[in-house]
Amino acid sequence: MNRHPGAWRAIGALCRFWPFLCRTLGFAARRSSVKQVLTRPKSFSNTAHNANLFAGEFLIGMDPGQDYDADKALFHGLLSSLNVQADADAEALVRSRRLASARTSFDLIEDYLLWVVFNAIRPAMGLAAPAMTAGSTAFQPDEELERQYLHEVRYVAGQLFLGAAAPTSIQRRAELCADSLRARVKCATALLRNAWAGNAAARPFDFVFRNGVGFAWVSHPVTVQSAALVVQELLERPKVYTMLLEKARSLGQHVWTCEQFRQEVRTHVIELMRFRPVFTVLSRDVPRETEFEAGGRRNAVCPAGSSVTILSLAAQFDPRGVPTAADYCPHRDWGREADSRFLMFGYGSRQCPARDQSVEMITSALIGLLTLPRLTLADPWGRRIRYDGPLIRRMRVQAAWGVPPAGGHP
Ligand code: HEM
Repeated sequence: MNRHPGAWRAIGALCRFWPFLCRTLGFAARRSSVKQVLTRPKSFSNTAHNANLFAGEFLIGMDPGQDYDADKALFHGLLSSLNVQADADAEALVRSRRLASARTSFDLIEDYLLWVVFNAIRPAMGLAAPAMTAGSTAFQPDEELERQYLHEVRYVAGQLFLGAAAPTSIQRRAELCADSLRARVKCATALLRNAWAGNAAARPFDFVFRNGVGFAWVSHPVTVQSAALVVQELLERPKVYTMLLEKARSLGQHVWTCEQFRQEVRTHVIELMRFRPVFTVLSRDVPRETEFEAGGRRNAVCPAGSSVTILSLAAQFDPRGVPTAADYCPHRDWGREADSRFLMFGYGSRQCPARDQSVEMITSALIGLLTLPRLTLADPWGRRIRYDGPLIRRMRVQAAWGVPPAGGHP
C-alpha cells in the first residue's frame, strides 16, 4: 500500500463520504479529525510505534514525560548544531559532478542520495560517526563500511513502515540489523558523549546510548526514502520537471547560490512530498476510552486498548478548507489550513522535529539532480524500481547525456 498513494487517497475519500467507515474501522480520514487525534497525545498515544522499535525504546514511541522531554531537548540541540543546507549542497555538488563525468546510468539511492543525506547528518555524531560505521573505535574512514551501516539502519527504520504486516524474514532481518546497530553504538558511546558534550553533559550512559541508536535509524533512512519518492513523483510530472530543468539551465553556475531558485525548488519538494509521502498512515494506541469527530452525526468511539489509524496522506487531499487540495499546486494559498501543509511530517507537538532540515536536504539533492541532463528511469532488468518490503532499494536512472547539462559541470 505504501507504493500506491492513489489507493490511500481513494480510501480516504470513501471514509470521508461514509463516516460510518471511520467509526467502524477506527480510521481518522478528514483533515480536521487527523489534526484532532494528533494534538491529543495523552488520549492517542505514540506507544503504538513501540512494537516496531526493534533497536529499543526511543522518542517517537514515548508518551510525554520526563524522559521524553530530555530526549526531545537533546534532539533539538543536535539539529540546531547542523548546517544541513551547506553540507548537503557540498555533497550533492561533488556527487552530481562525479555522475556527470561518468556519463553512465546510476543508482539514485546507492550512488547519490545515501551520501547527500549522510553528509548532512553525520556532523551531529562528531567523531562517533566513523566509529559507528566501522563498528570499532580503531576506525579508518571507508565508504564501503559506511554503505553497509547505512543499509543496516535502513532495515531498522523499515520496520516502522511495515509493522506487524512484515513477513517473518523481514522482521528477522530488522532484528539482526537492530542488534548490529546497538553493538555499533555501544562501542561509540564514549565518543558520542564527547560529541554531544554541549547537549548531553552529565547524562548517564543509557541516555546517550538510547539517543545514539535512535538518532542513527530515525534520521537517515526516512530522508533517503522520502527523497527517492520525491524524484519518482517529479519524473511522473514531465512539465514540472522540464520547467525546473530549464530554470536550472538558465542559471548556469549560479544554480547553487540563487536563493530564489532554491525557494522555488523547496516549494516543489514540499508539494511532491504531499503527493508521495514516506509515511502514508500513522497509528496511535488508545489507553482509555475516548472519541474523535469523524464527520457525520456521531463521533467515532475508540474503546480502551484499541488503536486508531490516521490516514495522514489522504487527509492532505481533503477538499474541506482547501478546495484545490487534489491539484498539484506548489504555490497555493493554504489560507486557514496553512498549518496542515506539512502533515506528511505529522502534526502538533509530535510533529517531526527535523521537518525543515529534511526539506533542505531533499532540496539540495534535487538541485544537484537538476544540474544533470533530464533523468529517466533506466530499465535494465525489466523492473524500474526495486523494492525491499516497503522500502525502495534501488532506483536506476539514466540521464540524456547528449544534451548539455545545466551549470555546475565542466
Ligand atoms: C523526509 C524526511 C522525514 C519525514 C517524512 C519524517 C516524518 C516524520 C513523521 C511523520 C513523524 C511523526 C510520527 C508520529 O507522529 O507518529 C516524525 C517524527 C520524528 N522524526 Fe521525522 N521524518 C523525517 C526525517 C527525520 C530526520 C532527518 C530526523 C532526525 C534527524 C527525524 C526525527 C524524528 C523524531 C525524533 C521524531 C519523533 C518526534 C516525537 O515523537 O516527538 N525525522 N517524523
